[in-house]
Amino acid sequence: MSKRGLFSTITVAELQRDYGTHSLNRALGPWALTAIGIGGIIGTGIFVLTGLAAAQHAGPAIVISFIVAGLGCIFAGLCYAEFASMVPVAGSAYAYSYATLGELTAWFVGWNLVLEYLFACSTVAVGWSRYFIKLLDFINLDFWPAALATSPLASDGTHIIATGALFNLPAVLITAFVTFICYVGIRQAAWVNSTVVAIKVTIVIIVIVFGAFYVNAHYWHPFIPPNTGVSGEFGWSGILRASGIIFFSYIGFDAVSTAAQEARNPARDLPIGILGSLLICTLLYVAMSAVLTGLLPYPKLNDAAPVAVALQAHPALNWLTGWVILGALAGLTSVILVMMLAQARIFLSMAHHGLLPPLFAAIHPRYRTPHWATLITGVFAGLVAAIFPIGLLGELVSIGTLMAFVVVCAGVLRLRYTRPDLPRPFRVRAIWPVAILGIGMCSLMMYYLPVDTWIRLLVWTLIGLLIYARYGYRHSRLRASAPPPPPGAAAAALEERS
Ligand code: ALA
Repeated sequence: MSKRGLFSTITVAELQRDYGTHSLNRALGPWALTAIGIGGIIGTGIFVLTGLAAAQHAGPAIVISFIVAGLGCIFAGLCYAEFASMVPVAGSAYAYSYATLGELTAWFVGWNLVLEYLFACSTVAVGWSRYFIKLLDFINLDFWPAALATSPLASDGTHIIATGALFNLPAVLITAFVTFICYVGIRQAAWVNSTVVAIKVTIVIIVIVFGAFYVNAHYWHPFIPPNTGVSGEFGWSGILRASGIIFFSYIGFDAVSTAAQEARNPARDLPIGILGSLLICTLLYVAMSAVLTGLLPYPKLNDAAPVAVALQAHPALNWLTGWVILGALAGLTSVILVMMLAQARIFLSMAHHGLLPPLFAAIHPRYRTPHWATLITGVFAGLVAAIFPIGLLGELVSIGTLMAFVVVCAGVLRLRYTRPDLPRPFRVRAIWPVAILGIGMCSLMMYYLPVDTWIRLLVWTLIGLLIYARYGYRHSRLRASAPPPPPGAAAAALEERS
């Protein structure tokens, strides 16, 4: 361990030592890792947000929005892949930041990852609950008691209002089920995930293939509807605004890197899992959004279940509606599962470095999972899912994730210069353009998110800083084990590091 101070960095050798001294179960190969990526990616984004983004912001050019967001993610994914192969530890972006940009930045990134993973669990659980009620409706059943079918709060765009419901029971039940699977073992979790991924990918492909026969190319004209005069409403600003919204649909590929300590051959298989899942999903998204906007004029896609709406517009495709509901339920289940796995492993890593209480780092002697971190994640995610509506948190999840991506791109570039000697089993070619484009495109998507989201991010950051000051700063293993620096040494030390 090295110097004390808010910007002290942990050495890559120390992170690599963590990698050799854990007792998690190394059960995952390249297919399971790719399935974890796809499991985390395909969910609410494609099944819910596509229609709203097309109808309100981009029109048929939602296809370009998916390409823009996909490219931003591929640049960030390449940087993730280099880091993950070099430092295969469960902490992901948090650990990479600790090695390159210092403890305070690492805390900030770790705290943003909580925003990504824990809140995504809740957000997606609420989406799952909606589709569950839709499924009951589809088979002519009612959820009873109705007061437990939905969230007690809703947002009318400006205010939070009471709905009269008590709490969202289906959302709590799915969170509890997934917590149980993640608690009892990575092998079981990977098995459930791979099965569910197979179901949802098959259904997405069926929709694309059968839907393609009914596409009316007239609906694609004009491909980029003219801007209405308001930034973000169609035209190029609309395309970028839509990219910021549907970016949510790509979140999850980074979760592959949190399974580093459970991968059999992390240096080779993590890049395969990260980039493979990202490429497969980008292709599926582009094809699916082209088909949806070709099945129906884009203003009619303004619905929380756009895929079902587009299919119902064609009597010959009605038979697919039930399958789509099933695919959405499967899709959302695996997103919750992957997000929960990832969150527990980020907590584990942060606790390992003393920034969170040791309980978060405990490994179950039999199941070899971070069981306390999993339980705590499950309880918080369940509570948030029981109470809050879906819209309130989705954009917050995106901004937190984009922030982490920017830091990873910057970190990988910096490490090329500070530690050129380190072995890089996966080395990004042309790192400068890749990292700069990753930073640029993610920053652009952040810029186009609403001001309210920025304000919430600020509040979240302040809460995080308070916790860091009260706990992490005092218990950091990095500083506790280092001798106090002689006066004036900090600046010299930082210089020597960079
Ligand atoms: N990418 C995940 C989804 O769309 C978070 O649900």
